[in-house]
Amino acid sequence: MSAGFGKSFSGLQGIKSIEDFDLKDQKVFIRLDLNVPMKGEPGNLEITDDTRIRAAIPTLKYAMEKGAKLVLASHLGRPETPEDRPKYTLEPVAARLGELLGCEVILIEEPTSDAPKALLPVLKPKQILLLENVRFEKGETKNASELANVIASYTDIYINDAFGASHRAHSTIDALPRLIAKRGCGFLIKKEIENLGMLMDGPKKPFLTVMGGAKVSDKIKVIESMMEKIDTFLVGGAMAYTFLAAQGLGVGKSRVEKDKLSFARDLIKRIESRGKKILLPIDHIVADDFLAPTKIETVDAPAIPEDRLGLDIGPKTRELYRKEIERAKTVFWNGPMGVFERPEFAKGSFGVAEALATLAQNGGVSVVGGGDSAAAAEASGFADKMTHISTGGGASLEYLEGAKLPGLEALRIVRESVAPTF
Ligand code: 3PG
Repeated sequence: MSAGFGKSFSGLQGIKSIEDFDLKDQKVFIRLDLNVPMKGEPGNLEITDDTRIRAAIPTLKYAMEKGAKLVLASHLGRPETPEDRPKYTLEPVAARLGELLGCEVILIEEPTSDAPKALLPVLKPKQILLLENVRFEKGETKNASELANVIASYTDIYINDAFGASHRAHSTIDALPRLIAKRGCGFLIKKEIENLGMLMDGPKKPFLTVMGGAKVSDKIKVIESMMEKIDTFLVGGAMAYTFLAAQGLGVGKSRVEKDKLSFARDLIKRIESRGKKILLPIDHIVADDFLAPTKIETVDAPAIPEDRLGLDIGPKTRELYRKEIERAKTVFWNGPMGVFERPEFAKGSFGVAEALATLAQNGGVSVVGGGDSAAAAEASGFADKMTHISTGGGASLEYLEGAKLPGLEALRIVRESVAPTF
């Protein structure tokens, strides 16, 4: 007897696609990741980046065209108490979805109420239901079967297209699909897995990674899992200061992870002993203070003076990294090179974004891990020129680390399980 597909399957193997189902008049529940950044006060909230909403549109349009009766769900932020509700409502998301789809989005205030059951049979073609933030339900993050049972009671087909939340074993991502025989993924998950899979399975060489962001500790697992595949490592962002400090260089008041110094030292040795290359910044943009900098300067050396802190890579490093990126055939970028939210410290990240865009235009592959690097790519104006920008921060890293994502595993058709009838 087979050991079961579940143990050996990876990528999209064993996972049905939305295209495999006849959606006509079916009650289709689609889990999305519409967790978008907002500004403003409750009652007057404004979406500052709608990338994740736009990324959901192809699946939604397809389902609507095929005549599905749709119930959508997403989380937003991490609400803890009922007082958090006004801040984390999906109201602005419902409005934006309606604009993009040209339809009426009916927000169901209580995800566990009878409203979806009552409304689904009378839903008109240009109307869809959106459950209010599923994290308003305590059971969601606890992967509760009670919440899953309520939703399953009115669902014919379950589709997960919430790539960015698929690393969470939460009720609408894990418990729910296990209750529904007809389950599969949407177009966004397909695109994400195909593009991230390209990095894991035979990337075109040379394969280079640009690593940045605040902490070395966030990247340890992905570095370990991809170490053998990557030829060149470029390091920037605050994590570079830990690597420089590990080499015995002064980093002034810059942020350093003291407990990761020996890991950084050892990593440099391991990379070099394999005949691979790791590059650290050779100059920096520094300031006297983070919150209220009065002096912003370029330090033309790898070491940073005692009374300064590094906030971006310098011009020589930018040029060095640009040349390296343009020589590569595949590049994975995760983590900004500096505090790109402030124009004075954005040049490093924007330079990397431009180099990745050039690479993709010249036939190379440039993939951006989600989260801050995706935001930096968007802010740079080069986002639409990359091969792929992931909508998942934590999810894309966990996937590349080789972890099984609960949201994907729950969709796989396992031989031993009660035979789903398709
Ligand atoms: C994200 O923004 O990375 C996803 O929406 C997941 O959100 P979470 O980290 O709050 O689970």
